[in-house]
Amino acid sequence: MCGIVGYIGQNNSLDILLNGLEKLEYRGYDSAGIALMDNENINLFKVKGRIAALRSHVNHAAASTVGIGHTRWATHGAPSAENAHPHQSTSGRFAIVHNGVIENYLDLKRDYLDGVAFGSETDTEIIVQLMEKNAEKYGETLEAFRQTISLLKGSYAVALIDREDHDTIYVAKNKSPLLVGLGDGFNVVASDAMATLKETDQYLEIYDQEIVLVNRHFVKVQKLDGTDVSRSPFTAQIDVTDTEKGTYPHFMLKEIDEQPFVMRRIIQEYQDERDNLKLDEDVQRAMMACDRIYIIAAGTSYHAGLVGKQFLEKMAGIPVEVHVASEFSYNMPLLSEKPLFVFISQSGETADSRSVLVKMKEMGHPALTITNVPGSTLSREADFTLHLHAGPEIAVASTKAYTAQIAVLAILAVGTARAKGLELDFDPMQELAIAANAMEVLTDQKEAIEALVRENLGTTRNAFFIGRSTDYFVCLEGALKLKEISYVQAEGFAGGELKHGTIALIEKGTPVIALATQENVNYSIRSNVQEVVARGANDMIFSMKGLEQDTDAFVLPRVHELLTPLASAVPMQLLAYYAALHRDCDVDKPRNLAKSVTVE
Ligand code: F6R
Repeated sequence: MCGIVGYIGQNNSLDILLNGLEKLEYRGYDSAGIALMDNENINLFKVKGRIAALRSHVNHAAASTVGIGHTRWATHGAPSAENAHPHQSTSGRFAIVHNGVIENYLDLKRDYLDGVAFGSETDTEIIVQLMEKNAEKYGETLEAFRQTISLLKGSYAVALIDREDHDTIYVAKNKSPLLVGLGDGFNVVASDAMATLKETDQYLEIYDQEIVLVNRHFVKVQKLDGTDVSRSPFTAQIDVTDTEKGTYPHFMLKEIDEQPFVMRRIIQEYQDERDNLKLDEDVQRAMMACDRIYIIAAGTSYHAGLVGKQFLEKMAGIPVEVHVASEFSYNMPLLSEKPLFVFISQSGETADSRSVLVKMKEMGHPALTITNVPGSTLSREADFTLHLHAGPEIAVASTKAYTAQIAVLAILAVGTARAKGLELDFDPMQELAIAANAMEVLTDQKEAIEALVRENLGTTRNAFFIGRSTDYFVCLEGALKLKEISYVQAEGFAGGELKHGTIALIEKGTPVIALATQENVNYSIRSNVQEVVARGANDMIFSMKGLEQDTDAFVLPRVHELLTPLASAVPMQLLAYYAALHRDCDVDKPRNLAKSVTVE
C-alpha cells in the first residue's frame, strides 16, 4: 500500500506529482505529501487527508524541476501531517518517500541513531536519518544510500532526494512495486505506470535489491553490490482513458457496467483464429502434470477461487484446495506429490500471496498467477501467467476483476479438460457469451436494485447473505462488497449452517438476501429463507429464471448453472453500491482500505 511518485526534468514537477498521486490514491489515502527541491532547499508540503487537500495546501509552492510525492495507507503511526511522507533528515538535507514496512526499524534506531530526534512515529523515517549519518561517514551520497539500503529488512520502494545533488533521484526496491518511466529530458518514478502515463509509456522494471540513479538524461540501475544492470524498457499497455471516470459518478459503477465487455474481451483473448479455446501450452502441461491444485488468494480473489475450485474439479477432474493467503504458511496442509500453486490476484502485488509464492518457489513447486496486471510481482515471479484482460480496476471494491477471474478459471478448467481428452457437455465461449448478455441485462436494471436498497437496506445495521453450493460463495462476496463500502455489518452464510448458531442474530426487520440460482438446492435454500422469515427477517430472494417464485425480489436471466456467479454477482455489487450511496459513503475510497495490499 501507499503510492510513490517522483519527477526530474525540465518542467515544473508540481502538477506532474499531484496528478500522479491522484492516480495512485487507490493505494492509500490517509495522508499525502510532496517534497520539491529549489536551488537551496527541499520544501515539504504534507497534509492529513486526500490529494485534493494537498493540492489546496501547495498552491503557493515555487516551481521546481525535481520532486517526490507520496499517498499513504498508515501502518506505523496514525494518519497525520507529521506521519505523512516525505520525511526529512534532521539537517533538512535528505527527503524520502517510502512504500512498504521496515521490519527492523527499532533495531536500527537503537543501534545507529541513539539520541537523534525523530519527527514522526513512522518506520520510514529511520531510512532518511540513517542517510544523514551515512552521508557524514561515507561522503558520497550513492555510497551512503547503498550502505543505508543494505541495513534494511522488510519491504520498500523508496525515492530519495539530496539538497546537495539537484540531478538525481535515488531509488531502491525490495518486495514493493516500483517502476522508472523514461522520457526525453526527464525521467519519472512511480509505484504504478498509471501514475505517469501522461508523461511516458516507456518503463523500466526494477527488481528486488536493486538501486537506481534517476537523472534527467539517464537512468542507471545497479545491484546492491554496485554491479551495473542493463535492462530494456517495456511499453505500458494501458489506455489513459481507461483510468478516468468519464461521465460516471464513481469508478465502481463504471467498472460494474464494464463487465459484459470484459467477458467479451476474455472470449476474444482466449480464442484462436478458428474460434477454438486457446490455452497456453505450458499452462496446459503444468495442469496435466499436477496431482492437486492449491489456489492461494485474498478477499474477493479468494471468493473467485472458491468458484474456480468447482470448475477445476468438475470439469478438469483435478482435486483443488483453496487457501486464504495470509493463513497458508501457518496452517500449511500436507502437500501432494505434484502440487501446482495457482495465485489469483487482481493487482498481482498482494504481499500475503507473494510471501506464499516465494516460499513455494523455494520449495521448488510450480506456480501459475491469474492477474489483471501481467507485469506485476506475482506474475513475474510465477512460472506462468494468465491475464484477466479486465482493464485497470480503480475502485477499491473489486467488481470486474472478480467476474473476470471466474471466467478465466472456467477457461483454464475447460482447456485442461480438453488437453486431458475429457468429454465435456459445456462450450465455454458460448456460455460466457450468454453470461455477458445476461450481465448487460442486469446492469440495465439499476433502478430495481436501487429500489430494493431503499426499501430494505436504508438504515439497517446488519445484513445476511445466504446461499447453498455455488451461491454460498457468491454470498461471501456479496457480503464483503456490502460491508467494505457501506459499513453495514454483513455476513455470508451457507444456508444450512445458519440454524447452527447465527440464526440467533435474526430479529424483526433483519435483511436476509438469499441466492437461488442452483436447481439442486432451490427448495432447500427456500426452506432456510422460511426459517428466518418466521423469526421476523426481511427476505430478498434473487433467483434464476426458471427457478423463480412469485414472491422473489429479483429474477436473474438464465445462464449455465456453472456460470451463475457471473450473473448473480452483478446485483450483489449494485446492492452494495446503492447502499453506500444511500449512506453517503465514499464509494470508491472506503475508509481504512487500500486497493493494493502490499503489507503482510
Ligand atoms: C475487495 C477487494 C479485496 C481484494 C484483496 C486481494 O473488494 O478488492 O478483498 O480482493 O485485497 O487483492 P488482489 O486481488 O489484488 O490480490
